[in-house]
Amino acid sequence: MQKWRATRRLLLNSYSSKSLFHHPRSNPISDHSTTISRSSSGFESWTSRIHYRHFATAMIQRNPAFSSLNSDDINYFKGILGEKNVIEDEDALLFANTDWMRKYKGSSKLLLQPRTTQEVSEVLKYCNSRRLAVVPQGGNTGLVGGSVPVFDEVIINVGSMKQVISFDKVSGVLVCEAGCILENLVSFLNNQGFIMPLDLGAKGSCQIGGNVSTNAGGLRLVRYGSLHGTVLGIEAVLANGDVLDMLGTLRKDNTGYDLKHLFIGSEGSLGIVTKVSILTPPKLSSVNVAFLACKDYSSCQKLLFEAKRRLGEILSAFEFLDNESLNLALNHLEGVRNPLPPSMHNFYVLIETTGSDESYDKEKLEAFLLRSMEGGLISDGVIAQDINQASSFWNIREGVPEALMKAGAVYKYDLSLPVEKMYNLVEEMRTKLGNSAKVIGYGHLGDGNLHLNISTPQYDDAILAQIEPFVYEWTSKQRGSISAEHGLGLMKANKIFYSKSHETVQLMASIKKLMDPNGILNPYKVLPHSIFSYS
Ligand code: FAD
Ligand code: MLT
Ligand code: ZN
Repeated sequence: MQKWRATRRLLLNSYSSKSLFHHPRSNPISDHSTTISRSSSGFESWTSRIHYRHFATAMIQRNPAFSSLNSDDINYFKGILGEKNVIEDEDALLFANTDWMRKYKGSSKLLLQPRTTQEVSEVLKYCNSRRLAVVPQGGNTGLVGGSVPVFDEVIINVGSMKQVISFDKVSGVLVCEAGCILENLVSFLNNQGFIMPLDLGAKGSCQIGGNVSTNAGGLRLVRYGSLHGTVLGIEAVLANGDVLDMLGTLRKDNTGYDLKHLFIGSEGSLGIVTKVSILTPPKLSSVNVAFLACKDYSSCQKLLFEAKRRLGEILSAFEFLDNESLNLALNHLEGVRNPLPPSMHNFYVLIETTGSDESYDKEKLEAFLLRSMEGGLISDGVIAQDINQASSFWNIREGVPEALMKAGAVYKYDLSLPVEKMYNLVEEMRTKLGNSAKVIGYGHLGDGNLHLNISTPQYDDAILAQIEPFVYEWTSKQRGSISAEHGLGLMKANKIFYSKSHETVQLMASIKKLMDPNGILNPYKVLPHSIFSYS
């Protein structure tokens, strides 16, 4: 066993790891620019090498009840929003029609950029009266084809609504518009001595409205919980243009049904989120990050069990990746180095602690790591000595999705499973696929969330037929979820029954019908196509 390589304490300020998408603007409060940045994601630079594959659309029929856009519609929108917020430019539309994974591509001819809730309301009211289908779009970083049109739906992006409305330092409650980019909120809060309760690799592009609408999980859920807990209020516009003001800032409010929860995770199918109020934790002074190696999956599991008990309140992330994931990151991402050279291990765990007492936290972490090493749970490890090193550890973990995209075609699954069974699926999949594909597993182990990814040089129906429905059936047998945090979108709308009963889906369909009787909001997504009469 190699000697423990923990050295000095990590520098103390809270940091934000380098994001894949460096948004060129850093101040969400003062920036009034309204165009959607195409350069922010590095999207064009490498996706040109990726194989295009349009999943699922061949199976879907355009709902004939929807109207087609005409010049009167466009003039009407220009009247409400002004010429420059009604986008017909081909390049901008190509970006807005194509998802981050380049698997889904719509053919919308119109992108609308409202600047106020009133404008969103007027646009939706009109679309509803004309039966024009719409897709709410945020940063377009979604991974299930939910954020792009399937056919010619009008794209509505609230990215111009990016003001912080208020921040209360006593309660930590932030109220902001839905188009604020997550990373900009992180910077704003950092200046106030607070942090966002959620963090994810797409932070430089995704919008808080998109995060809420997908109920994004991310890297800190193990500590701060889901958005169902931290989002205190929402303002949303219904399909008919009605504005629902549920923008409360209270921790406790038991006055009847808490309808804001319907919008958290409903992926734009029930309304457009225009404002959000969210509880933010104070920024604590002591952050430590350790990158560890484990000989087998069972050791990762035991390490999690121990970390929850021994690190307790200071544990703020517990992420894992297998050696295939690390290899991908090393081979495809610039500047990524193995923190534990020269040997490769079977599994890696990234542990972050966040607390308020530097020496206590450090001692606690080091004692835990030493004990785990003596107990054989860790084979090697290193604690970041400064912010740069901590960021470099995070870059490995956060960079895996990008590395996968660079490697070729990706079949991506996002599953909630019992932690003890989780990695069996990766192994079974490897046995099934043999040499025809690379099967990799990583994810939010602390939350029981596996990201199972199958990487091949190009898309191949024969491979897909070996993966599905096997992966969904396997998950269903464990009473797991086929969508832990990414949502159902278009990719899994028809797979919902693997995780939800018929009665539950029927009630969801009734709610959808009640709130959006014409079905104009994000059609073909979330709910199975069989429940709509036109399909
Ligand atoms: P979009 O992708 O634009 O839209 C997503 C869905 O929300 C769509 O259905 C859309 O219609 C709807 N929507 C968007 N804005 C609104 C609105 N204002 N009102 C109503 N509906 C709206 N996800 C995680 O959960 N955890 C992760 O760790 C994570 N890491 C990621 C890392 C990378 C590199 C990438 C590319 C993605 C990652 N994701 C992750 C997925 C994605 O970033 C999240 O789902 C994110 O919350 C989407 O936000 P967005 O603004 O990009 O929304
Ligand atoms: C992650 O945790 O990295 C994201 O959810 C993206 C992915 O699953 O690839
Ligand atoms: Zn994730």
